[in-house]
Formats: sequence, structure tokens, C-alpha cells
Amino acid sequence: MDPINETFRSRRYDLAVDTITEGDINELIEWLKLYPRLTMADATRKFEEDWSKWLGVKYSVFCNSGSSANLLMYAALDSSGKSGNKKVIVPSVGWVTTVAPAIQFGWEPAMCESDAQTFGLDIEHLKTLLESGKVDNVILVHVLGTPCRMDEILTLQKKYGFKLMEDCCAAHGALSQGRKVGSMGDMSSFSFYYGHHMSTIEGGMVCTNDEELYHHLLMLRSHGWCKDLPKAEYDRRMQQYGIDPFHSPFTFVVPGFNVRPMDLTARIGMMQLPRLDNISSIRMKNHKLYQKLLDGQVEFARCLEGDAISSISFGAVAQSPEQRKNIVSALVENNIDTRIFSAGNLGRHPFWFERYGVFSAPMADRIHSCGFFLPNNQTLDEKNIRFICDVVCRALK
Ligand SMILES: Cc1ncc(COP(=O)(O)O)c(C=O)c1O
Repeated sequence: MDPINETFRSRRYDLAVDTITEGDINELIEWLKLYPRLTMADATRKFEEDWSKWLGVKYSVFCNSGSSANLLMYAALDSSGKSGNKKVIVPSVGWVTTVAPAIQFGWEPAMCESDAQTFGLDIEHLKTLLESGKVDNVILVHVLGTPCRMDEILTLQKKYGFKLMEDCCAAHGALSQGRKVGSMGDMSSFSFYYGHHMSTIEGGMVCTNDEELYHHLLMLRSHGWCKDLPKAEYDRRMQQYGIDPFHSPFTFVVPGFNVRPMDLTARIGMMQLPRLDNISSIRMKNHKLYQKLLDGQVEFARCLEGDAISSISFGAVAQSPEQRKNIVSALVENNIDTRIFSAGNLGRHPFWFERYGVFSAPMADRIHSCGFFLPNNQTLDEKNIRFICDVVCRALK
């Protein structure tokens, strides 16, 4: 090991690092000393407004995790009557909670292969699934901040008329032809878990331009009552059902959940949002350097011309499981955190194969058996990335 690498070896490279700064904590402590209301209230509404502005959508609903955001998307389609025949195309590469609500709500999921370029939905397989019988819903994941082939998916949406949910839980700030991911589907979800582009400790957001879905999201988040609705809609519903004012705050319109956030977590989100674009741009720059240094060495997602990747980790795919083993050993030896690529192929997990059998497709399987993560976050600079890539390339020899 040469002296430069010896210096970098002494550092630990974590996959997930904090985005909450000492300044944020100090500001939070000062706020707490005022004994503010900590449960969901004004700060939540302000954070939602700020987020909607940042994303360029009409409505956002803050909740307690990205998984809850996904749950709310499915539930809102159901309770608004927009889920149609409840058939849904789900990605094979993504996260379990992208798919789980379909099973929990008794929908009929069909799994889609991963695209060899973007690792999102494979368009040819998507077309085949859409052609093989009417499907009224599709959920996609912008895998690790690489935008899916959105123009093609939106064209298919026009042709087949399905509702589109975008899971952007690890893709804040990624761009598809200049449009922020999460602003193109009927609804979108984001996660603010530790290690993501920004964190509210635990937290998630659902976004939409559809007012009716927005109203359902607000009710579903809080038990199914309607007292969180805008005043005019609340009054309209109480009138519709003929509810007297004493009962109305505790009248349950839909069978809901409690997946509310706290004003405490909303404050943490509001403090970080102004820094999000900067953090995303560092991650974008790091990601590009990884691509340049690992080109021809390992496989990775490439965005379409005119798109931009904003990742929380660099996902790579080795040529074989054996090669992955060698790379992982070298990474561990050099204090570089690694893990499998997201969840690999979701169709190879018991929650799926025990119900529907194993889903097997070439790209999803390759990501499953040969994929791994490399750290990408705002604390890493060019020298760190060069060191990490050097470790990977040496392990290939
Ligand atoms: C694509 C995707 N969807 C959903 C989630 C779930 O988010 P959370 O951990 O906030 O529940 C994650 C978590 O990383 C994710 O990567």
C-alpha cells in the first residue's frame, strides 16, 4: 500500500452519514426551550408548503416514514375509488415497502424486470405486462436517484390510462429532462430517513397535484377523520353526512391509520431543506466521478441523456458473485462500508416467492447476486472517491 492510500485507509467510509448539523441541534434546543407544541401542527404545514414549492407540486403530506408515504399512496387510490381493478405493476428492484401495500390491501401485483440502463422499470417488460390484461396502477422506483425512462412511461400512461406512483425515497433532486422526479406521476413518495439526502430522523412525504387524492391522504394519515382537511372541504363533508358540530371532529370518513409526523421532525426538515440542493449537487458530482473511474470495471446505472442522477449510494454490479466477494473483502479491509444493492431482486425474497413464486429476470437477478453499494454522501470529496475506486479496481486484478 502506498503512503497516500495508507492515509485514506485510516478513515472509515460509512454508507450513511448524518445531514443534521450541530447548528440544527442548537437551533432545535432553543426552540424546545419555548415549550412549543411537538405533535403535528403549524410546523408540519409549513414544511409541507416549503416542500411543495421545492418540488413544484400543489400538495404535500408529511408522515412518519417513506414506507408510510408508500402505504398512503396505495390507500389514497383505494379510498378515493381511483385504484380501478387494483392490479398494479411493481418493480423488481426497489424496496419491500414499495410492494408490500399491494399485498396488504389485497391488490394483484405483477413484477417488472429492471431496465439494463437505468435499473428502473424495463419498458419492454412493462409493455408486455400492460398488454397481457388491463392494469390500472403502476408504481416505479427511481433506483438510487437514477430517473426512470419517464417520457416512455408517461407515453404508456397516456395510452393505457393507469395511475402512476413514483417512489422517490432515495432520489431527492434527481432530474428527468429538467423535471424533478416526484413531480410527474399522480403521486410520489420521499423518505427522510437517516443517510438519505436529508433526514428528519424518521419521516416521509407524499406529493400530488390531485386535490381529491390530497384530501384522502390527509384523512388516511390521521385515523380517517376529516378535521385535518381544508375548512371548506371539512364543512362540505360534515354537511353531506349531516353531522352535528359536536360530533364532527371525531367523525371517521375513511378507515385510516396513524402515520403522523411530529412538529419536532417537521422543524428538523425545514432547517435542512435550504441545504438540499447543495447536498444533492455534491452527491451528483461524486456519482459522476464514480462513473468515470469505474467505467469498464463494474456495471452501473447510467441516466438518459438530459437526465441527472442524485444518489444516496453508488450502486455497482460485479461480473460474478465471486468477483463481488473479492470486492467486498477488499472494501471491508479498507474500512469502506458496503452492503447488497438495495434489496437486490425483490422477487427473490420470501415475502414475494411464498405467495407468487420466484420472480426471475436477467437484470434483476444480476443486481441480486452481483450488486453492491459504495458510499456516496456530502462528506466525501474527490480524493476519497478516488481511494474507494482504487480499492475496487485493485480487487478486480
Ligand atoms: C426506494 C425506497 N422506497 C422506500 C423506502 C422506505 O423509506 P423509509 O426507510 O423512510 O421507510 C426506501 C428506504 O430507503 C427506499 O429506498
